[in-house]
Amino acid sequence: MSDLPSELQDDSSPSESSVHGAAIGPLPGASELAQQVSRPGDRSGSDRADVAEVATEPTGVSGRPLPRVIAVANQKGGVGKTTTTVNLGAALAELDHRTLVVDLDPQGNATTGLGINYRSLDHTMYDVLLHDVALEDCIEPTEVKHLFVAPASLDLAGAEIELVPAFSRESRLKRAIAEVLDDYDFILIDCPPSLGLLTVNGLVAATEVLVPIQCEYYALEGLAQLTRNVELVRTNLNPSLEISGIVLVMYDGRTRLAEQVVTEVRAHFGPKVCRNMIPRNVRLSEAPSFGQPITTFDPSSRGAVAYRELAREVSGGS
Ligand SMILES: Nc1ncnc2c1ncn2[C@@H]1O[C@H](COP(=O)(O)OP(=O)(O)O)[C@@H](O)[C@H]1O
Ligand SMILES: [Mg+2]
Repeated sequence: MSDLPSELQDDSSPSESSVHGAAIGPLPGASELAQQVSRPGDRSGSDRADVAEVATEPTGVSGRPLPRVIAVANQKGGVGKTTTTVNLGAALAELDHRTLVVDLDPQGNATTGLGINYRSLDHTMYDVLLHDVALEDCIEPTEVKHLFVAPASLDLAGAEIELVPAFSRESRLKRAIAEVLDDYDFILIDCPPSLGLLTVNGLVAATEVLVPIQCEYYALEGLAQLTRNVELVRTNLNPSLEISGIVLVMYDGRTRLAEQVVTEVRAHFGPKVCRNMIPRNVRLSEAPSFGQPITTFDPSSRGAVAYRELAREVSGGS
């Protein structure tokens, strides 16, 4: 049985699901998220009233005014943050939106995934955050028209610690982005898999958070903590921040588990969940090793089609 309060349960959802016949219990993290939804505080009244309020909020990821600064965040690793940042960015660029991908992960996967070798660079995000180098001086064009990247290298790992005593340590990225904001329609920030100072810089610089959720058993685990942190940043540092979108990735429609995850995520996040889901598609995992987004690596693949549709949804084109 699900741990959710009855008000949050979708009647159509099975109380017990199965993957290829095997029974699945409640998803880990679901009850914690449910408690958060019904937590007393900013919304008063019953759970039902809370849900009604969420459902009527004019929120969601679609068609907000430009320019938009979107942090792609989830403190779990391997959930599709970088894949979503790179390929949503490329698909937005294909729609003629000038798009900047800011790589805030010391692993630099968005950087290499867009064909940039950080070893050949004079400046990276480390210099922007720690040495007041202008963001403009670190931005590189990519092979995709309208798509640019502010690259990361491994030394960014040190920034997490070096930033601790720094002046205005949480808002360094925000200040850097302010200088280039007029040049872009979309700025997508690929956050590292942690809730440390780098991610906080991403959340302070952005007005929106896009959260990729992998359609697997532990999908909801950690989401309560992520939403609490977004709330903390909103209260203390950036009043305009909100989770604008949840994107379900690595979706495999053949499994009951994926369906269960979709049902629970929609029950919690309602209209914030993007209509378009990203399927599990091997071409998406192959593209980075060729330094290309999926839209140029394999333009007709299911992954490319899905990210194009997501880009249309996000930009308000459909
Ligand atoms: N929709 C997908 N289908 C297949 N593989 C995917 C998909 N999305 C991501 N991957 C693969 O999963 C792994 C983790 O994705 P990544 O975007 O790097 O996650 P994160 O940035 O959250 O750590 C990578 O190897 C990536 O290529
Ligand atoms: Mg990543």
